[in-house]
Amino acid sequence: MALCSNDYLGYAARPLVHDGAAGGAGASALIAGYGASHGAAEAALAAWVARPSALLFTSGYAANVGTLAALLGPQDLVVSDELNHASIIDGSRLSNATIRVFPHRDLLKAEALLREGRSGHRRALLVSESYFSMDGTVADLRGLRAIADAHDATLMVDEAHALGVFGPQGRGLCAREEIVPDVLVGTLGKAVGLQGAFVAGAEPLRQFLWNRARSFVFSTALSPALAAAIPARVQEVRAADAARARLLAMAERIRGVLLEHGVVPGGEGPIVSWTVGTPERALDLQARLREHGLWVAAIRPPTVPPGTCRLRITPSAGLSDSELDRVLVSLAAVAGTPLGG
Ligand SMILES: Cc1ncc(COP(=O)(O)O)c(C=O)c1O
Repeated sequence: MALCSNDYLGYAARPLVHDGAAGGAGASALIAGYGASHGAAEAALAAWVARPSALLFTSGYAANVGTLAALLGPQDLVVSDELNHASIIDGSRLSNATIRVFPHRDLLKAEALLREGRSGHRRALLVSESYFSMDGTVADLRGLRAIADAHDATLMVDEAHALGVFGPQGRGLCAREEIVPDVLVGTLGKAVGLQGAFVAGAEPLRQFLWNRARSFVFSTALSPALAAAIPARVQEVRAADAARARLLAMAERIRGVLLEHGVVPGGEGPIVSWTVGTPERALDLQARLREHGLWVAAIRPPTVPPGTCRLRITPSAGLSDSELDRVLVSLAAVAGTPLGG
């Protein structure tokens, strides 16, 4: 039983329903690869996150890299949380902007970096995940919005792990916190259970990325069949309050069992982080859980900083009650015995 996927609502295993939509786009969107199914998917996604427009990318990696490298250049400044995803790091590097990194969720430091760097740069961009994928921590989005505004900076928020999971109708943490980022990145391969991603924002942002995001311009457009599946899936996700509540309750039960056995899990919500330190300890734990029939991958550098190897346990609302009971019994057994390594 997998307890380490991002299929939070349990949709990923469902087959795609073919309604005649083509499997392949055949070309980049700018050439001939963009069709009615892409337009309808973008409209559904933009409406979901309540932004004027959205642009589809083939993955979250492509969305972050393409967006950052298009928006920023050597005259610009990017201020980034130290735990931001690799795609944010790579896009920032590719842009050749000045990169300043602040300690995780340290708004005072982020503000200081913006204050010190703002005047020497044409444009400043503050970027953060909303729900951090390896730690299960939540960004202070209102605080980020306030400091971006105070320093005339663009705010970019990656909602990859929050969409479908948090907020009214699963609209994410920006919606829950009632802030509007200038650039919102959402992925479709996690709670939405499909593949691909989108960048939502004002219409000029979409126009700009359409022409300038190289991972969009120079890449075959998303499969029309996949795009055709998006509007209905978004509708389902929006209506999935019961699954969201179930998911969060499951994660709390997992946290409870770990705590009862002396393990203090990190984060909140469906990403339960059990940090053990060395790679050997993480692999030992992975092997023991495997003996109990649980697949929880050991997370090691470069995905997480050295010394913070961990098990990242993520339930899915698709688990049955009896499966969850098995998970809890196994976790209790493994957490209750000392680790090797
Ligand atoms: C925060 C974050 N952004 C972006 C991505 C990349 O998304 P995708 O898997 O669609 O490329 C991930 C994937 O792990 C992620 O965790």
